[in-house]
Amino acid sequence: MARLTILEHREIADNMRWLLFEAPKDLQYQPGQFLHIRVTDGVDHLLRRPISLCKVDGGRKALGVAYRVGGKGTKLLAGKNVGDTLDVLGPLGKGFKLHEGDRHAILVGGGIGVPPMVELADQLHRNGVKVTAIVGFQSKSVAILIDDLKQYGDVLVSTNDGSLGRQGFVTDYMTDELLASADRFYACGPTPMLRAVQAKMEGRVAGYLSLEERMGCGIGACMACVTSCRLADGSIGYKKVCKDGPVFPAPEVYF
Ligand code: FES
Repeated sequence: MARLTILEHREIADNMRWLLFEAPKDLQYQPGQFLHIRVTDGVDHLLRRPISLCKVDGGRKALGVAYRVGGKGTKLLAGKNVGDTLDVLGPLGKGFKLHEGDRHAILVGGGIGVPPMVELADQLHRNGVKVTAIVGFQSKSVAILIDDLKQYGDVLVSTNDGSLGRQGFVTDYMTDELLASADRFYACGPTPMLRAVQAKMEGRVAGYLSLEERMGCGIGACMACVTSCRLADGSIGYKKVCKDGPVFPAPEVYF
């Protein structure tokens, strides 16, 4: 646990905010891990909020996250200012694994699942892997981080209402030709999107799904985040999203 100072905090789309912290000392991280941020109004002892790591700025020694302002916790977080400090655990959990020898990766992000793709795209790009990012949003007004992703590869955009990019779903971009050219996929977003991506990729491209789940402790102690998974012996069991994930090999995830 560390108290980290806020270096930047601003709106980047409707109800979506960017928050940059100073990095904790001796930072170790993987793309896809999350920060567990405690927010309080000074009266209630609120739970922590898990927010995916979006970008590490090595030059400034800073960690960036992007989040949607929704419930009480994130509304309180939105009221914090540059110079304030927050109690932050992490980066926590298991992130995305990069594989030596991969030449082309498809990154799929839906809504608030887009932020972890930025650091991942940066690392893949630096390793010489071609990046194709497919991102989906409800509408243009909540679209985020597209220009950030464009620094690292091709970006294909879909929106539900057609106000930006192609109208439809991220899977609409997943042609046979695209899938045949990919060595790996990485996806993060709402469950219906992950289920559709898992079905599309099964038996064709190996990859990873990052699950979004409500969390309590964030460190494997409270069982608030359990999800059904296919275990190694083929049976269905449970795993903790905070500790065993949030990133899982795609075949392990059982919807
Ligand atoms: Fe407590 Fe995962 S949040 S076990």
